[in-house]
Amino acid sequence: MAEVELDSVSKIYPKNVKAVDNVSLTASDGEFLVLVGPSGCGKTTTLRMIAGLEEITSGSLRIGGKLANDMEPKDRDVAMVFQNYALYPHMKAFDNMAFGLRARKTPESEVKTRVLEVAEKLGLDELLDRKPGALSGGQRQRVAFGRAIARRPAVFLMDEPLSNLDARLRVTMRRELALLHRELGTTTIYVTHDQVEAMTLGDRVCVMNEGLIRQVGTPKEVYDHPVDRFVGEFIGSPSMNFLEGEKTEEAGDACFAMGDCTLPLSEELKNIPAGKTILGARPEDFSLATGNVKDSQYGLLEGMLEMLEDVGEARLLHVRVANSLLVAKVTERPEVEIGSKVSLTVDSERCHLFDPETGKNLSV
Ligand SMILES: Nc1ncnc2c1ncn2[C@@H]1O[C@H](COP(=O)(O)OP(=O)(O)OP(=O)(O)O)[C@@H](O)[C@H]1O
Ligand SMILES: [Mg+2]
Repeated sequence: MAEVELDSVSKIYPKNVKAVDNVSLTASDGEFLVLVGPSGCGKTTTLRMIAGLEEITSGSLRIGGKLANDMEPKDRDVAMVFQNYALYPHMKAFDNMAFGLRARKTPESEVKTRVLEVAEKLGLDELLDRKPGALSGGQRQRVAFGRAIARRPAVFLMDEPLSNLDARLRVTMRRELALLHRELGTTTIYVTHDQVEAMTLGDRVCVMNEGLIRQVGTPKEVYDHPVDRFVGEFIGSPSMNFLEGEKTEEAGDACFAMGDCTLPLSEELKNIPAGKTILGARPEDFSLATGNVKDSQYGLLEGMLEMLEDVGEARLLHVRVANSLLVAKVTERPEVEIGSKVSLTVDSERCHLFDPETGKNLSV
């Protein structure tokens, strides 16, 4: 097992495409670190540099404490799992899984023991004689995982390994991956643009955008305390709501004013200067207002219900308030019709204020 350390690593492709910009990041020994971010933000490039499939333009990479910038891929003791499985189509599942071991001149008896052991772990025992063409997508991906695991590398690098699978299989494989990691304890760097995968699998999550790291933290830290608007919006589904308004004061209390609505803010946000600001609140932080607060405007967001989506365990209310459209996730079944007025309250303790210019979270 090994620690992977990137220190001020950049990658500039020809024609001056800066794919990765001064990234410093450490996956500690045994950690499951997830890189997440929108398409083109540099996730694959980062992983390929660690694997040795892409040259590092500047900065240093250490694997297990050793400088690895110029190390041959085969000497890095890392195994990569790709989105498209990258299996050899003419080889049986067994030989695909044995490939890395044989390439390293492992004795054939040892190859057999290890492949069979991994095949059992992954439920592939019955399929070892089949070629990839005769396997389902999920089975192929298992073989690809098996090939990586059989080698017992110090580090797993996984690039969206589940994204070609259907939604149900993805959930199953996600659970299996989590269990495997618990059992093997191998340092894993896992790329996804699926924020649910990021939140559920990662010991820590690294959110990237445009080649830059925006935030690194535990899933809870990143979800509850996004450092900026980008992270707040990217992590969580449906997205965080952003409402334009003003930070004001009412009878000594910090408030957020938007159109005719005024919301109380938590004590924590009191010292933020008055003026234009953006309030961030997650869908689940809203509730439908009940009878006893109806008399007062204060603390209520009044708007028009534009759409209602029933997602089974909750209802998503799309509500137009002043100039903004917000999404509230509530567990009750509101007796309101589309086009009619609804009143919402928001949990002031969970609200954030963002700088309208820089997008920085002023409350962290
Ligand atoms: N071989 C290459 N030559 C030039 N530019 C490249 C090359 N590979 C990637 N890029 C560019 O580098 C940037 C980062 O690409 P990368 O593949 O790392 O993104 P990603 O985060 O993995 O995206 P996705 O989620 O779509 O897989 C993009 O702007 C991409 O166009
Ligand atoms: Mg990619």
